[in-house]
Parts: sequence; structure tokens; C-alpha cells
Amino acid sequence: MTRGWLGERTRGIAALGGYKKPPAGRGPLKMDSNENYAIPASFQEAARAAAATPDEREYPLGGAERLVEALSAYTGMPAAMIGVGCGSDQILDMILSSFAPAGARVLTSDPTFSFFEERCKLRSITMDKVPFGPGMELDASEMASRSGGADMLYLDSPNNPTGFQFPRGELEGLVRSFEGLVIIDEAYGEFGRYTLSGLAAEVDNLVVVRTLSKSFGLAGLRLGYFVAPEEFTDAFMRVVQYPYPLASHSIEAGIAALADRGAVGEAVSLVRSERARITEALSSLGQFEVFKSDANFVLFDAGGAYGRVHSALAEQGIAVRRVGRVGERGGCLRVGVGSPEMNSRFLSAVHDLMR
Ligand SMILES: Cc1ncc(COP(=O)(O)O)c(C=O)c1O
Repeated sequence: MTRGWLGERTRGIAALGGYKKPPAGRGPLKMDSNENYAIPASFQEAARAAAATPDEREYPLGGAERLVEALSAYTGMPAAMIGVGCGSDQILDMILSSFAPAGARVLTSDPTFSFFEERCKLRSITMDKVPFGPGMELDASEMASRSGGADMLYLDSPNNPTGFQFPRGELEGLVRSFEGLVIIDEAYGEFGRYTLSGLAAEVDNLVVVRTLSKSFGLAGLRLGYFVAPEEFTDAFMRVVQYPYPLASHSIEAGIAALADRGAVGEAVSLVRSERARITEALSSLGQFEVFKSDANFVLFDAGGAYGRVHSALAEQGIAVRRVGRVGERGGCLRVGVGSPEMNSRFLSAVHDLMR
């Protein structure tokens, strides 16, 4: 047992939950991590070819800056407002560790992105959570009424795991009226109805966090970015972020991927139409409550059949996420929208189970 303060701190950290990764090596149909299997093979091949070009003996000097230029062209926002990180996970963590004031309080939803929640626990940040209603919707006025004592507002838009996205005006109103740091996490932004990244040019306390993991289907490259006012971006990138946060291979692959926006647009359209197909097909079984989603996954309440559906799918090599209780809904499962073939296999397996 480690002695003294280190032992105490280590055991304190170990006692925290930590982010629960899904088990590795589960079935061939990975529909539990909100990855993107609609992206064409040619897109992946181009990214892979670009990843093979750097000389790994060298630090990627100037690499992050070139990626920022490519992200600036993609988002239409000035390069001076864009920062990068090793996945949006790392960006979120660094914002909390370096910008949150001592004894900070954050206002968010319940549920919210579980990694963010775990990091708040690690950094001793108190969370005030506004629950989702039974229809998986958040009440903007309740959120606004509870914002008074909070130093930070964190909302994932769309939300993971519900797929909910506020009407644009409501979220904009919340953002504009909040005094402290506002983090809007748009990991699933492209699948939703709007982005608030443009607002960071007007609102000086807003950081919009985004990623190439979801719409670009590049989760393995760990490429996250944010759009924020220049002053924040400069402090983050020059002082907080590591000198070389991204692997040179990831940088080159990311730049190549950002040049092929057509493929991403098509993949996003396909995910949206497949999301509608999954939502309709699950609803038509008449045994689940299925919630409207603006993301690349669908949440449904399987009630008492929750455990049975999850394990029967797992036995067939189809991994979906056990979410469990969300507000009044007791047995929620989250299925990622996969390729059309994956979705058809998932739907026919559920159909057979519920006959
Ligand atoms: C809401 C939300 N934010 C951020 C992330 C992390 O994304 P990244 O792969 O960029 O770290 C996820 C991943 O599932 C997510 O659901």
C-alpha cells in the first residue's frame, strides 16, 4: 500500500468510477460506440495513404497548424479561433483541468456524456444536473432557472445517449444568457440540425467542441477540435495544449479526409435516412418506446425486456449499449446507426426476438 498523501490520493482516484469502456472483442456488429460505418472505403483508403507519408523520426512541427487551416476551410471559421486535441475527450479534460476555477460548479443534463461526468468527479467539480423528461426532452427554462450558481454550462448537442438536440433558438438563448464558461459539445453535430460554432465569433465565453471521430468515421485517429474566441484559443493552444498533441500520421490523414467533404456529406445523409428506418422499424414493433434522435444512434426503452434483448443480441454478435435507467424510463438501450447491412441484421434480430 502506498504511504502518506500519495496513497490517500491514489486510493481516492481509484475509488472513482472512471469511464466504462465497452468490452473489447465483442461480436462483428459493433453498434455500441457510435462509430460511423457508412463512410465509403475509398475515403478510408485515402486517409490511410496520407497517414503513411510522415517521417516518424521527426516531431510534427507545423502539423497541427496545417490541420487547423484545413479545419478552418471546413468550418468556415478563422484559423485563430480553432484549436485541436487528441480527440475531443482530451480537449474537454484540458478545459476542465486548466480553466475551471477552484470549487467550480457545472450545470448540465442528466444524463450527459459519461466521460465528461467522470472528469468532473476527478477534478472535484460539482455537477448540477437537469433531468430529461419522459419524452427524452430537456426544458430550457428549467435549465436557465438553475444557471445562477453555476460557473460552467456543459451540454452535448445532440446529447449522448438520448439523441436530443434543443431547438436552435432555445440553445442560443441559454448560451447567450449564461455568465460563465459555456461548453457546447457537438461531437454529433453534423447529424443534427445546426451548429453553434459561428456563435463563438459573437459570444466571448463560448467553446464549441467537435471531432472527426463521428461524421468523418475516423475515431481511431483521435482528432478533436474546438471553435472558440481568439483569446481563449490562443491561451489553450500556446500554453495549455502539449507542443505536439497529435501524431503526424493522424494529422496527415485528417488533412486528406477534410479535403473530401463530399464523401462525408453522403455518409451523413445515409446515416440520417438509416436512423429514420431504425426508428420506424423499432416503433412499429409496438413494444418499445423509441425516442427521436438527431445523432447517429437511437435510444429506445425496452422496459422489462431490456436485459433479454441486450444479451440475445450479444449472443448473435450484435453489440448495443446498455444505458439502463434514464429519468422515468427503466430499460434503455442505445443502438448506433451502422451500415445499411448492419442495420438490417440488427432489425431482423430484434424482430425475431419480439415475435
Ligand atoms: C458527446 C461526446 N463528446 C465527445 C466524445 C468523444 O469523442 P472523441 O472521439 O473526439 O474523443 C464522444 C464520444 O463518444 C461523445 O459521445
